[in-house]
Amino acid sequence: MKTSNYLIIGSGVAGLSLAIKLSEKFPDRNITLVTKSNEEESNTKYAQGGIAVVTNFFKDSFEKHIEDTLICGGGLCDKEVVDMVVKNAPERLNELIQWGAAFDRNTQGNLHLGKEGGHSAHRIVHHKDQTGKEIEQAILAQAKRKENICVLEYHFALDLIVRNNRCYGAYVLNEKTEDIQPFVSDFTILATGGIGQVYGHTTNPPVATGDGIAMGSRAGAFIRDMEFIQFHPTTLYENGITAAFLISEAVRGFGACLQTKSGERFMLKYDARGDLAPRDIVSQSIDMELKKSGEPCVFMDCTHLDIKTFKHHFPMIYERCKSVGIDAAKDKIPVVPAQHYVCGGISVNINGETSVKHLFACGECSRTGLHGANRLASNSLLEALVYSHRIYNYLAAARSHQTKFPKNLSAYKINTQHISSDFILKQKKELQALMLRYAGIVRNDDELHHAKKNVVRLQKELEHIAQTHNITKEFFELKNMTETARLIIEHSLQRKNSAGTFVKQACLIQ
Ligand code: FAD
Ligand code: SIN
Repeated sequence: MKTSNYLIIGSGVAGLSLAIKLSEKFPDRNITLVTKSNEEESNTKYAQGGIAVVTNFFKDSFEKHIEDTLICGGGLCDKEVVDMVVKNAPERLNELIQWGAAFDRNTQGNLHLGKEGGHSAHRIVHHKDQTGKEIEQAILAQAKRKENICVLEYHFALDLIVRNNRCYGAYVLNEKTEDIQPFVSDFTILATGGIGQVYGHTTNPPVATGDGIAMGSRAGAFIRDMEFIQFHPTTLYENGITAAFLISEAVRGFGACLQTKSGERFMLKYDARGDLAPRDIVSQSIDMELKKSGEPCVFMDCTHLDIKTFKHHFPMIYERCKSVGIDAAKDKIPVVPAQHYVCGGISVNINGETSVKHLFACGECSRTGLHGANRLASNSLLEALVYSHRIYNYLAAARSHQTKFPKNLSAYKINTQHISSDFILKQKKELQALMLRYAGIVRNDDELHHAKKNVVRLQKELEHIAQTHNITKEFFELKNMTETARLIIEHSLQRKNSAGTFVKQACLIQ
């Protein structure tokens, strides 16, 4: 058994920023941060566009950022949360800068601000097209300097330890030794990120398997809004490749436009904001164009842009396209929508508390009320930073506990039978195909019911296997993806039954 004051699960921007703050405030307390895979791997690391922060008060205002967020969320945002997050943004940005993250500046030394879909002003603070990598490296380095933070990579949290609706930590699998141990703590924080692998065709890395949401759900935490899956409209189309490389919305903010194969600009047909309409609208419009034409992709045209400046702002995107034979200076970039973000998740209050006592959640795995039905671009890194700060403030004021941990903590019986990795892979691919086909950008009742039947069947099969087989990370990821899929489908069906037209628009349930 390992004991700490704070157990944080996940080493993206949410988990690491919280760990740093707790460590500075309480040098005499210990913080254990477990993370599966290597410590850097996370959605955070791949963020491109940047962080939405009002910094230029001559041309922009908090009111405008609030308004843009509310409009994009389709009437379903929590206004109090939006107000709080937007107004907190400048402080959180300054903190990141103090921790060593560098953001692009113009020749006068002011922050260079990008623009993305749904934003009425230039307000995206960024580090070229690799903002996430810059942030992840800076905060990871900070966290590793702190003596009272113990970062354990390749440690996979399996399940939360909960008794009488109170969380006491989590069971953790050491991926290298295959040892499972209870990690007990006074406070546990889920910062486990996204769910992209449930769909397979996603911008998210392989670690995004919905573990935190599934663990929370199994522990009885309230989960909300899982139907609001955000599909990014523009990922590089590569025949047969599921890992979708993102072509940042900032590229359209820089002047690129979407076209059909025959060169027709189509976005104005669907929305007066054209290529910079909010993401759900652009993805749905592309989906309709593709269904009409039968083509596999649409195109992003950058050929009219100043290519020198383009390369300066988007070096990674330029090089990645080049590596597959597309020169953005001359060729149009083939793009398709792909799963990108989950707006729903573990429901938390304004302090990041879940409905389970002593259990908190922040970042992409949480549902705060900021995003409503559709997240405004670049509001996600911001949300993670603001809510890790809210949790920190709450915990800083909370009484220090002498927790009496529950006695009987052995939860996993060790079986000897091995689960074949071919079986896991086959089931995973089937689940991903099912979700893409029946619970994707456009959904309807019949298809959702079909998907639900299959997902429930798979869940039962996995439960049965778990009785006799050895626990592996891959098995648990599949189990978590299946639970996440079930939540997405069930919430979609519930929304369909109770929603007004706005909501239908936001997740396009026909
Ligand atoms: P993550 O950064 O995903 O971190 C989750 C961590 O939890 C990982 O370390 C993971 O390994 C760990 N973990 C998961 N399950 C377990 C488990 N069972 N046990 C132990 N550890 C576990 N947002 C913006 O605001 N601006 C952008 O420009 C932007 N661009 C993006 C581009 C891409 C390609 C992607 C994929 C996302 C982008 N986003 C962007 C979204 C944003 O990056 C994420 O929402 C945000 O980084 C989430 O941070 P997080 O800390 O909550 O989760
Ligand atoms: C992008 O750069 O297009 C992604 C921004 C985001 O997901 O917020």
